[in-house]
Amino acid sequence: MNFPGTCTPGQVCGTDMLITDALLGEHAVFHLMLGSIEQSLPALDSLSNLQNRIAAFAFALESHAGLEDELLFNALEPHFGTQSGPLAVMRMEHDQITDLLGNIHSASDLDSARAFAKQMIQVTRGHFQKEEQILFRMARQFLSEEELSALGAEWAKQRTPLVGLDMP
Ligand SMILES: [Fe+2]
Repeated sequence: MNFPGTCTPGQVCGTDMLITDALLGEHAVFHLMLGSIEQSLPALDSLSNLQNRIAAFAFALESHAGLEDELLFNALEPHFGTQSGPLAVMRMEHDQITDLLGNIHSASDLDSARAFAKQMIQVTRGHFQKEEQILFRMARQFLSEEELSALGAEWAKQRTPLVGLDMP
């Protein structure tokens, strides 16, 4: 496998990573973060502590959802449409999670922020489960290996750290 930025002249550059595998890998990290946030919720004793605890997660999840929508959902639109069906449901849930994260950010007291956080964890886990068990499987049925791989290469390109990797 070649990573972007590590190709030498004459070498075929690309990645064997399928977009569905890349997104599943990101989900695995978010599951860990959700577990960690959930564990820490009872002990967070001020509104700002709770908001700070969730801020990095919110930033990373927004990036993940945006990339998922741009790369995978857009590629599935010709197969599933946008007005109803799985993509409409997944996009609606992305908005729901964004709204809950916004509610946490703008909450005026600790108890309501904690309640929004619990709801956000539950909704996000349910959403991930649907993507992992239904949508990503459908994607592997409706998109060819080449399409999934090309989208995986685009994912790798967009995830390349801004500092650049100078790997041997
Ligand atoms: Fe999603």
